[in-house]
Amino acid sequence: MMDVAAPPRSAGESADPQTAPRPADPCAFVIFGAAGDLTKRLLVPALYNLAAARLLPKEFAVIGVARGEMSDDAFRARMGEALREFATSAPSDEVVRDLTGRFSYVRGDFDDPNTYRVLGDKLSAAERSRGTNGNCLFYLATPPSVFTLVAERLAEARLLRQEDERWRRLVIEKPFGTDLASARELDRRLLGLLAENQIYRIDHYLGKETVQNIMVLRFANGLFEPLWSRDHIDHVQITVAETLSVENRGKFYDQTGALRDMVPNHLFQLLALTAMEPPAHFEADAVRTEKAKAVKAIRPLTPDDVCANVVRAQYRAGTIADRRAAAYREERGVDPRSMTESYVAIRLDIDNWRWAGVPFYLRTGKALAGRRTEIAIKFKTAPFALFRNTPVEHLAQNLLVLRIQPDEGASLQFNAKTPGPEIYTGGVRMDFKYADYFDAAPNTGYETLIYDCMIGDATLFQRADNIESGWRVVQPILDAWREGRDCADLTWYAAGSEGPQEAEDLLARDGRAWRKIE
Ligand code: BG6
Repeated sequence: MMDVAAPPRSAGESADPQTAPRPADPCAFVIFGAAGDLTKRLLVPALYNLAAARLLPKEFAVIGVARGEMSDDAFRARMGEALREFATSAPSDEVVRDLTGRFSYVRGDFDDPNTYRVLGDKLSAAERSRGTNGNCLFYLATPPSVFTLVAERLAEARLLRQEDERWRRLVIEKPFGTDLASARELDRRLLGLLAENQIYRIDHYLGKETVQNIMVLRFANGLFEPLWSRDHIDHVQITVAETLSVENRGKFYDQTGALRDMVPNHLFQLLALTAMEPPAHFEADAVRTEKAKAVKAIRPLTPDDVCANVVRAQYRAGTIADRRAAAYREERGVDPRSMTESYVAIRLDIDNWRWAGVPFYLRTGKALAGRRTEIAIKFKTAPFALFRNTPVEHLAQNLLVLRIQPDEGASLQFNAKTPGPEIYTGGVRMDFKYADYFDAAPNTGYETLIYDCMIGDATLFQRADNIESGWRVVQPILDAWREGRDCADLTWYAAGSEGPQEAEDLLARDGRAWRKIE
């Protein structure tokens, strides 16, 4: 990971040579699923941004692997077009030419050993002609159903063997399993083929500057940490709200649902970074150990807890930003009688000394009133009303809001005296916006992640135990839903609304309320 103490910058910005990251190690970057959406929308634009920022090594080659027939030249042309469509800023012809000139293509089925023989030959050729030192990053931009197949075939072709200083790494996209058992099985099989430190499990939330900033805010300031505990915090709200519906992913989403899609991964990343203890060092294992400990300390949910503390809901037709939005069940690829949740809200308790008694409320959903990802830390109110004219219940809440996206930044809300002869108080807000301070070039969010894989820094990647502890929390919810307990029934919300009434009730029961999404 790039030095957190350095002035924040994006991969596209010129930086102080003292703190500027070095170009990554020589390597070949192999993309399985080279014809897919992820490759053209995110991976290749991210490689472009790294190239433009001179963070790619000079000794670099990209090999795309997919089923369709295509020549090297056709692949280069297609990726050039993808850049014209999806680059995050107007691409320079020179950088595009140099980058795509390093691309080549292997046509092959993922289960055919011959695909891997041809790939092995291409890798040897890249080593000779480009000087990649035999280092290689295999990126699985494929459906999860072929993760183990590709890894097994790579191992059989001896392409995962590290020797003579050469490294081989495997990058895996989410979803990592569909429940605790399948995630464990996937790990068991992968760890039979590679060492843990060769596996890079991506959660793209960790590529977001604002997510990385949670650690900086907490551990690079003397101000917040002393207040960061049950002594001063009343509760925490983590929201990932989207206005988007399932779009063209109906088939995948209908088998997945909001809980699996977002909670054990993205929302638990946010929770872990908020709740973790300071690591002893800023090193991959120290950071990941503290994050895993925070998630492991979440109190396991009993079936009764699932009834009381989890709300699942699906959207009906409604209006999002003046646009008529269809019901979830009318979306393409979705079963018209689907019972899949597009929204989930959960109250969790963390049983450790720092957080005992401080509920963490999580919610995420599609087709909601606004797009908003944030962590809101609500501090305890002042213990009594010193000012006659403002009873304690009328004091504004002390609230620290970390805005992950959009409008990236943070704000702190507190009370101030309203002007006039008598003492009345009113809520005011100090606001920090990234855009006001840092001139960061737009990026895909994958730049840091790809760069970190290339330099072997796993801080921003999930270790097997991080993934497992996330699924362990979620598993009782999946079980209770599968058993069809009445009290855990699916409920409804209108597209474009704040979510279901039951989610409001979840907090109202504790005398609290969600922040507005819109
Ligand atoms: C993905 C989910 O992992 O994250 C999507 O599969 C979701 O359903 C997306 O829309 C949200 O990512 P972001 O970066 O837009 O918050």
